Amino acid sequence: MFASFKSIASYIPERVFKNSDFEKIIDTSDEWIVKRTGIKERRFAAEHEATSDLAFEASKIAIQRAGIDAEEIDCILVATISPDFLCMPSTACVLAERLGIENIPAFDISAACSGFIYLLSIAKAYVESNTYKNILIVGAEKLSAITDFSDRSTCVLFGDGAGAAVIGTTQEKSSSVLDISISSNGKYQDFLVTPGGGSRTPIRADNVDKNLQYMKMKGNETFKLAVKTLASDVKDILQRNNISPKDIRFFIPHQANLRIIKAVGELLDFSIEQSVITVDKYGNTSAASIPMAMNDIYEEGRLKKGDLILLDAFGGGLTWGSALLYFNGGNLI
Ligand SMILES: CC(C)(COP(=O)(O)OP(=O)(O)OC[C@H]1O[C@@H](n2cnc3c(N)ncnc32)[C@H](O)[C@@H]1OP(=O)(O)O)[C@@H](O)C(=O)NCCC(=O)NCCS
Repeated sequence: MFASFKSIASYIPERVFKNSDFEKIIDTSDEWIVKRTGIKERRFAAEHEATSDLAFEASKIAIQRAGIDAEEIDCILVATISPDFLCMPSTACVLAERLGIENIPAFDISAACSGFIYLLSIAKAYVESNTYKNILIVGAEKLSAITDFSDRSTCVLFGDGAGAAVIGTTQEKSSSVLDISISSNGKYQDFLVTPGGGSRTPIRADNVDKNLQYMKMKGNETFKLAVKTLASDVKDILQRNNISPKDIRFFIPHQANLRIIKAVGELLDFSIEQSVITVDKYGNTSAASIPMAMNDIYEEGRLKKGDLILLDAFGGGLTWGSALLYFNGGNLI
């Protein structure tokens, strides 16, 4: 028995925040943001919406598209760096309650922008060891809650959203999740960090005054390492599976920066038609970026059952990973 990618869905918050809206609050310009990042706008969740609310909307659709009832989900996994609550309960437990599902395992993982691929690797292992049969995996982020809107080098980059998928079973290798690689290197932990709020720097008025509860990033260093790591990771997984870039229908990289996506695409010989790009309209939504991008091409009728796709991510930790899979959801259009 193999793990199979049965459905994809996303939730995109309504509120559009354009680059020109940043021009009103910080010293920046639409031209700078577009040129350096490719981002034109991003979505921000409403004040009352938490990460689990975004996850819930995406999950409902993912379950329905998988052709199963919520009661058939036997495990819920969420990847997020902006959980509803800092320590407990997990966003996965809150999501399970919203979905009306009880008495199954539900937990969060923390692998930043690589979170969705980490989840997929756990789900694949569970399914193929016959532990669970229908696993809901969700990448969801309300990054606007942990963004410092006075720091122009980070605040223009991020957005909110959620993407969800159901990982089930198949007997056919040609409709399965073929291979996944995940990795990390803590040596670069200070490249992307939310320094305050954890046990190292607890929530205290003096730490909050220093804005330590918000994301900080060494942008330039992260950029260079991202290009190198993403490209070599993909080369490895393709080689290992004896697959050439032209066999891939869609290359879906983590959406952090258009320049990173283009540089990696060129190094790997992916055409513009193969590379999926959504960073222009959603910004970087961390763990949600890959499933959101995947859902966009699904809803456009481009992603079809049987398509061979390659996912590739890189994020805080540092963490990275790639996944090679045949999409096995029903065609929407
Ligand atoms: C953040 C990023 C866009 C910055 O681009 P960059 O070309 O590296 O720019 P730098 O950080 O070197 O800054 C260049 C200048 O632009 C300025 N700048 C930074 N943010 C700005 C903004 N929003 N608007 C205008 N100017 C800005 C800097 O202050 C700096 O000015 P200075 O030269 O006078 O000091 C880029 O480094 C990046 O995308 N990094 C990777 C981010 C990423 O992918 N993170 C997530 C990984 S999952």
